Amino acid sequence: MSFELPPLPYAYDALQPYMSKETLEFHHDKHHQAYVTTGNNLMKGTEYEGKSVEEVVKDSYGNQPLFNNAGQHYNHIHFWKWMKPNGGGTKIPGTVEKAIIDGLGSIDKFREDFVQAGVTQFGSGWAWLAAKNGKLEIMKTPNGENPLVHGAKPILGVDVWEHSYYIDYRNRRPDYLKAFLDHLVNWEHVEKMLSEAR
Ligand SMILES: [Fe+2]
Repeated sequence: MSFELPPLPYAYDALQPYMSKETLEFHHDKHHQAYVTTGNNLMKGTEYEGKSVEEVVKDSYGNQPLFNNAGQHYNHIHFWKWMKPNGGGTKIPGTVEKAIIDGLGSIDKFREDFVQAGVTQFGSGWAWLAAKNGKLEIMKTPNGENPLVHGAKPILGVDVWEHSYYIDYRNRRPDYLKAFLDHLVNWEHVEKMLSEAR
């Protein structure tokens, strides 16, 4: 099975003003497409062909060129689904809210730590809410890495590569992260990821 670029689950201008059409055109059509194309070229004729995206991510950890592209393919497949128009805020499905409070203490603490993880991820990478050993925790990873290679399952992730926010927010990464939490998070996809992690 080779990697395929999934279509965006909403129109390119659907997340404005918090994420512009221009950002999504570059981010989805150029950056995500490049991870798919490069990943497929690197997998051609290897043991990785025929494996699921998750398996390629876990099995290629340490094989950096393939891992970087497979990791980014996995991360972006979910990143598009982790957002929706009129999303975000604190109207969180009950199961997710309970799991966050159990793992992190409160919704406020989750928001604070998630933003902090994104702000302090030096250079390119991701901030995560992830399930590990039956509890939710905040993680951050560099480049294309994700919680799958740290014995955890991603529940919510945000891309803090500059390609995700520079057109709309310039260097104001904290403002982008706050807008993501307040206006973009698709809590239904978070709930789905949580139920699959259990
Ligand atoms: Fe990205």
